[in-house]
Amino acid sequence: MNILVTGGAGYIGSHVVKQLLENTEHHVTIIDNLSTGLMKTVDTLKCISIERLKFLHTDLKNFSEVEGIIKSINFDAIIHFAASIVVPESVENPLKYYLNNTVNTTNLINLAVKYGINRFIFSSTAAVYGEPEEIPVKESSELKPINPYGMSKLMSENVLIDTAKAHKDFKFVILRYFNVAGADTKNRIGQSFPNATHLIKVAAETAIGKREKLLIFGEDYDTKDGTCIRDYIHVDDLADAHLKALEYLQHNNSDIFNCGYGYGYTVKEVINTMKKVSGVDFRVETSGRRPGDPAALVADNTRIKEIMKWKPNFNDLELICKTALEWEKKLLKIN
Ligand SMILES: NC(=O)c1ccc[n+]([C@@H]2O[C@H](COP(=O)([O-])OP(=O)(O)OC[C@H]3O[C@@H](n4cnc5c(N)ncnc54)[C@H](O)[C@@H]3O)[C@@H](O)[C@H]2O)c1
Repeated sequence: MNILVTGGAGYIGSHVVKQLLENTEHHVTIIDNLSTGLMKTVDTLKCISIERLKFLHTDLKNFSEVEGIIKSINFDAIIHFAASIVVPESVENPLKYYLNNTVNTTNLINLAVKYGINRFIFSSTAAVYGEPEEIPVKESSELKPINPYGMSKLMSENVLIDTAKAHKDFKFVILRYFNVAGADTKNRIGQSFPNATHLIKVAAETAIGKREKLLIFGEDYDTKDGTCIRDYIHVDDLADAHLKALEYLQHNNSDIFNCGYGYGYTVKEVINTMKKVSGVDFRVETSGRRPGDPAALVADNTRIKEIMKWKPNFNDLELICKTALEWEKKLLKIN
């Protein structure tokens, strides 16, 4: 297959491209504006296969340029990662999120229909559930995003659903990711964007001395140690779910799946694990709760396991922390 991967120079997209090049015969074209993705990452991916990987430095907002690309290459599927992803920024600058996430996605879906690309895999998020009342969260749980980031993704989901209803050949898989973490086990690629807010990356940065201290946002939640519980999924298990989704779309109808392990760890458990794997007793301080942080967010992953036959291989918090740490050490040397 010929696959268009938007945002393939970014964290999750690059792990999917890596697996497409290593585990399949597909040809991949990345479109990325390198706003948070890195050319170095693309160069690393080219070392896996230079013949089957094409990189186009383009912004999805350039509709005519994107149409030109889609017209000239006969794509069989689109995997769409490109987005803005920082929740607090989405509150300050919602239009950036609605334009980059919802408008650009809508244009891409429009082009997919226009040029007969009938398989579309979309990166969605647990943020579409907002502050869920029921844990673990099922795909059928109420959708109540509490910030523009989550809403921009939910709106894109709805565009996909309505489009598939009206165009019967067009099929999608929506993957709702929980907390993605860790890096390539061979330490070739990882999460590179500076100022990340993800706990495991921040803990790794603190362990190697890039940050002075780590802040815990709230110690008074109704959980076993008072800190928030999240479901951390290793990026390579998540990447594998995309390859499964591609196969799934060859013979099945559109569907929506949660991506997580179905088990959560508290912030303190993550910190202790990072301290253990790094051997560094880094500084930790407690600060107040952040608005909109639910006490617990854990996926019900029954559907993806039963329907898509997805099996996690890296469901191990120590391994997740270790790969994140090794990547952080490498980044320090590269930069
Ligand atoms: N990281 C997580 O924990 C997480 C959780 C839930 C959902 N997601 C979703 O996964 C997807 C990938 O996230 P990530 O963590 O890899 O982020 P990332 O920032 O590393 O990757 C996004 C990529 O898209 C590119 N991009 C952004 N806007 C673009 C545009 N207009 N045109 C072309 N390229 C553009 C960036 O340069 C970057 O390479 C996003 O859609 C995000 O919403 C991520």
